[in-house]
Amino acid sequence: MLDLLVYNASLPDGRSNMGLAVQDGRIVELAAGLTSASAPAHEQLDAQGQLISPPFVDAHFHMDATLSYGLPRVNQSGTLLEGIALWGELKPLLTEEALIERALAYCDWAVAKGLLAVRSHVDVCDPRLLAVQALLEVKRRVAPYLDLQLVAFPQDGVLRDPQGLDKLQRALRMGVDVVGGIPHFERTMAEGARSVSLLCELAANEGKLVDMHCDESDDPLSRHIETLAFEAQRLGLQGRVTGSHCTSMHSMDNYYVSKLLPLIAQAGVSVVSNPLINITLQGRHDTYPKRRGMTRVPELLAQGVTVAFGHDCVMDPWYSLGSADMLEVASMGLHVAQMTSQAAMRQCFDAVTSSPAKILHLDGYGLEKGCHADFVLLQARDCVEALRLRATRLKVYRRGRLLAETPAATATLHLSGRAGHTAWQPQSPPGSALGINP
Ligand code: FE2
Repeated sequence: MLDLLVYNASLPDGRSNMGLAVQDGRIVELAAGLTSASAPAHEQLDAQGQLISPPFVDAHFHMDATLSYGLPRVNQSGTLLEGIALWGELKPLLTEEALIERALAYCDWAVAKGLLAVRSHVDVCDPRLLAVQALLEVKRRVAPYLDLQLVAFPQDGVLRDPQGLDKLQRALRMGVDVVGGIPHFERTMAEGARSVSLLCELAANEGKLVDMHCDESDDPLSRHIETLAFEAQRLGLQGRVTGSHCTSMHSMDNYYVSKLLPLIAQAGVSVVSNPLINITLQGRHDTYPKRRGMTRVPELLAQGVTVAFGHDCVMDPWYSLGSADMLEVASMGLHVAQMTSQAAMRQCFDAVTSSPAKILHLDGYGLEKGCHADFVLLQARDCVEALRLRATRLKVYRRGRLLAETPAATATLHLSGRAGHTAWQPQSPPGSALGINP
């Protein structure tokens, strides 16, 4: 007998009336036309034509800072640099217990929103490495329901901080998964480039993935992504290196970018854009026109580069909003990048599901036979409708087990001149061309 049988589901690739059978935490069958009578199962779920998606994945987050908004004060200017200074004020006041409590609370938010894998940077510049200890403990505790991958992030600059490299290496020895960096925050461009080489060599020697905050500024001459791509190729790290933010690319000279994009693609370097944060933190030194600072997402995709959208911040020194909703992240991304065609919107859905899963090297991710039975039932018929509505996550499953449920969004209208009450749901009418994958 099956553990779970899901039927009458739509999938992100546009297939409809699909069924999915689960046994021992894995998808053992994925086929069209399965019904409740197809096989006996302990639990059955009629998806009623709604979308079943693999879980959301956030490729870029800061879980050590999350939910600390207002501690010890609010970022008045709203700039990246005041945020970094504010984080520096908060760090000595942090306790391991409070870090764990806030991170666990965020993971609860994430699970409710169907976000079941997060790559979080963790600041390794505190000599106590308190945040590293705390997030390693959080990783252990949430492991049954959420994959937390940690990046050793030298917020103050691995070379600018005299003990930066030593602390980063200690964090890796403690169990942090990925080598981070912040070349644009080093003292000079040359030092930034040196930090990229040094950290990529370290990752190559230790067999680690790389994910650097790279060129998070409006300075068109901040070109550390070029060095990152060069080093990835030189050291044979194709498919293992990610450049995060890359906002300077928004402001770069077009001729230079025409050379840079193929270099990034050839080096197998992935890019993570953080639309909510980039659009609020960049362009702060501009009058008008104000640059929006998001990296060149459609152009990178056109070159075959894997691009994900990350949340980056939720209620922390840099950003006072956010709710672990990756559909909000993708929606902002598609608006800022003007990715409004049906095909481009589906790419934006991929940018918060399958693309970050690839960047994190998640094992067994996806809706295929043999994959983990991890999926989300959304109150939407396809991924474009899910984006339009930031659709309710009706049910969230992991390894075939129900983790979270949210009631469907429904309003009862009381309209004069109409008999009785009218129930209204935000979805487009069945059969409408709106919200149906062409
Ligand atoms: Fe970040």
